[in-house]
Amino acid sequence: MKKLFFLIVAIFFPLFVTIGQTTIPNHRWFDEARFGMFIHFGPYAVLADGEWIMNQKPYKVDDYMKLQQIFNPSCFDADAWVSLAKAAGMKYIVFTSRHHDGFSNWDTKLSDWNIMNTPYAKDLISQLAEACRKQEMKLGFYYSLLDWSRNDYAYETGRTGKNVGRTVQGNWNDYIEFMKGQLTELLTNYGDVSLIWFDGEWDQMPHNASSHEESAVDWHFSEIYELIHALQPNCMIANNHHLDPLPGEDYQAFERDLPGRNTAGYSEHATVSKLLPLETCQTINGSWGYKLQDNRYKSLTELIHYLISAAGYGSNLLLNVGPESTGRIDSLSSELLCGMGEWLNRFGYTIYGTSGGHIPPQSWGAITRKDQTYYIHILEKESDKLSIFFPGNIISARWVNVEEKLRWSRDEKTGIVTFFLDVPLDEIDSIIELSSNNLIQNIK
Ligand code: GLC
Repeated sequence: MKKLFFLIVAIFFPLFVTIGQTTIPNHRWFDEARFGMFIHFGPYAVLADGEWIMNQKPYKVDDYMKLQQIFNPSCFDADAWVSLAKAAGMKYIVFTSRHHDGFSNWDTKLSDWNIMNTPYAKDLISQLAEACRKQEMKLGFYYSLLDWSRNDYAYETGRTGKNVGRTVQGNWNDYIEFMKGQLTELLTNYGDVSLIWFDGEWDQMPHNASSHEESAVDWHFSEIYELIHALQPNCMIANNHHLDPLPGEDYQAFERDLPGRNTAGYSEHATVSKLLPLETCQTINGSWGYKLQDNRYKSLTELIHYLISAAGYGSNLLLNVGPESTGRIDSLSSELLCGMGEWLNRFGYTIYGTSGGHIPPQSWGAITRKDQTYYIHILEKESDKLSIFFPGNIISARWVNVEEKLRWSRDEKTGIVTFFLDVPLDEIDSIIELSSNNLIQNIK
């Protein structure tokens, strides 16, 4: 068993390496948040087929832009979105300010392709910022680096947006200036912005690229990051490029996978940073933007398990909802989110403000830690006994939510603690709280 433990550590630990370090003065809230709401919303919601539909169908730019006369989120209620995030136990919201179709959800002066020119004609971001301020919710913006509607985006070297009918080529430097101008608007007109979440660098990379050097364009990231930090020194920067973090990035984002895993195929070339805070984003069903035919909702248990596993890696979970074109969040998503909130109301203290355990999540579950208290979350009972290596003395160990006395024993020679699970366990997560007098190093 001891051998097995060291084998696991030897396999796993090299994945967590020292790259990047946040320079943000105030990022503690993010380190402790553990749970946020991702919201994908834009004119694509009208077509109800996900946020990639312009590229997939494909729609010519001129045809797609007809959505500007149709998109009318008349039921949008910023307070209701924020209240739902609160009820779910979420600590921050990341909203798509502008996705790959290039549509801006705010009153930008730099493009006419924006919410003010729809029948709705109101700034979504100012309403959301106001609601977040009122309800003390952190707010950040997703911002697409790639653009399927502009001519000055380098579409000829891009991998996507090839068939949307662009023939005129603009100037790349104009595009960089446009992005800087838009980011300046977002960071000056809407109060505190907690983070900017970039996406789309991969569009200019050969398939399965392993380094930033392979980009066909110069993204001017260092200038853009400096601008953001100059405008708002506490604004954290993340970039969903699927590669190692660049200087100036304040946390590392993973898409559809827990840090160090690669089941979705995006994370092969991303080494997990030991220093930067982590976040994994995931969909509540299978889609980011609203999709009528997507009924693949994850169960409440699956969602709670994902949150616990993320926490076991020392990572936040950014869970997505894609509101309907009217602005309403569908009732099944709301129900699932409220269910998560109810669970967090009872057991959130084993998740928020914790670090990852001293061993990474395993097939049976995950460990989180607060100082010298460990929370062992048993998600799958694999046998009547569970053995885990713990150095140091154990002061106490008890079940948090199982109505039995915890039985456990410790092998003093190996430091392996065995917990006896031959009792009726909790259906979602049976939690053991263990206090130790030995501060062993956690993975994050
Ligand atoms: C991918 C998709 C994008 C989505 C993002 C969220 O990069 O291109 O549509 O917004 O993942 O993680």
